[in-house]
Amino acid sequence: MQVDGKPWRTIWLEPDGWSVGVIDQTRLPHRFETRRLATLADAAAAIATMVIRGAPLIGATAAYGMCLALREDASDDGVERAHAALLATRPTAVNLRWALDEIVAAVRNRPRDERVAAAYARAAAISEEDVAINRALGRNGAKLIEAIAAKKNGAPVNILTHCNAGWLATVDVGTAIAPVYTAHDAGVPVHVWVDETRPRNQGASLTAWELNHHGVPHRVVADNTGGHLMQRGLVDMAIVGADRVTANGDVCNKIGTYLKALAARDNGVPFYIGLPSPTIDFTIAEGRGIPIEERGGDEVATMTGETADGRIETVRVVPKGSAVANYAFDVTPARLVTGLITERGVLAASRDALAKAFPERAAAGRAAE
Ligand code: MRU
Repeated sequence: MQVDGKPWRTIWLEPDGWSVGVIDQTRLPHRFETRRLATLADAAAAIATMVIRGAPLIGATAAYGMCLALREDASDDGVERAHAALLATRPTAVNLRWALDEIVAAVRNRPRDERVAAAYARAAAISEEDVAINRALGRNGAKLIEAIAAKKNGAPVNILTHCNAGWLATVDVGTAIAPVYTAHDAGVPVHVWVDETRPRNQGASLTAWELNHHGVPHRVVADNTGGHLMQRGLVDMAIVGADRVTANGDVCNKIGTYLKALAARDNGVPFYIGLPSPTIDFTIAEGRGIPIEERGGDEVATMTGETADGRIETVRVVPKGSAVANYAFDVTPARLVTGLITERGVLAASRDALAKAFPERAAAGRAAE
């Protein structure tokens, strides 16, 4: 994607050929800064502190984290330790485990002196595959937007989204927002309702920043606005991302997604999920089995923003005596999902449809159970 006329991805190899560059997403939308990751600890911290975030980008960063670790220690023990350290960073997005397992599979049966190169090759391929998957997903989802546009006599298609599942959450292109970019670039009029997405404001800070840079019309709304918009007929469809989709089509995504799906069902608004296949977890039968991340209370008790004189400040918004809870994700049952937009087409959120579209992954999932 372009930032001020320059093409960027969210993760890249630095000119030294081995260290890893990322965009620091904790500084957006007020500052555009990059960070260099040079060790396993750097990569693990970048994931845990959400310098990078979003399921596919967590996977790609973890893959490069394995490469950085193997440069120090390519023994079997070293591989195992790096896998464990990175897997412990965040529990919910299954792309993390998928990418780590991919690197382990790529190096496992190789002599030590070939392991680093093999890991870098697989990490680069994971990044390229993510971009190709998201482009295909974008094309498949854009057809849904075009079908709605065809009935609107040139009025924009109003799309509600939650959190950030745009290019910042992936290596490039995005998942839920990929169909929006594809349709917009093809001249289809679109307008995006962006949920602010408390507590970390990924919608207000990241999705809005992306859409601004791409020139996509949008409005940021407070999290609880979606139901009202749907009742008034101001939402044609919702598209959100996913951190894990279970074998039966249940969808785990950013906290608050479930409430939007309930409102969508009550108002007859189609509710779609954009997801790349590494987000499907065929080892878990249904959403109840997904580990839900609980993060520090400060994310709820404080807010960070830019002051009028350009300083970044964090302020407390909850009384000091009040306890807080911070559940980062929730599960939307498959019955509330209109369709899963994947690189292999738009699927029903069901066991049969997922297994039929991704038979090789379904078989591997059954073997791992
Ligand atoms: O906590 P985050 O910011 O990593 O959560 C991100 C989301 O919930 C996204 O919707 C999901 O990862 C899909 S990203 C393509």
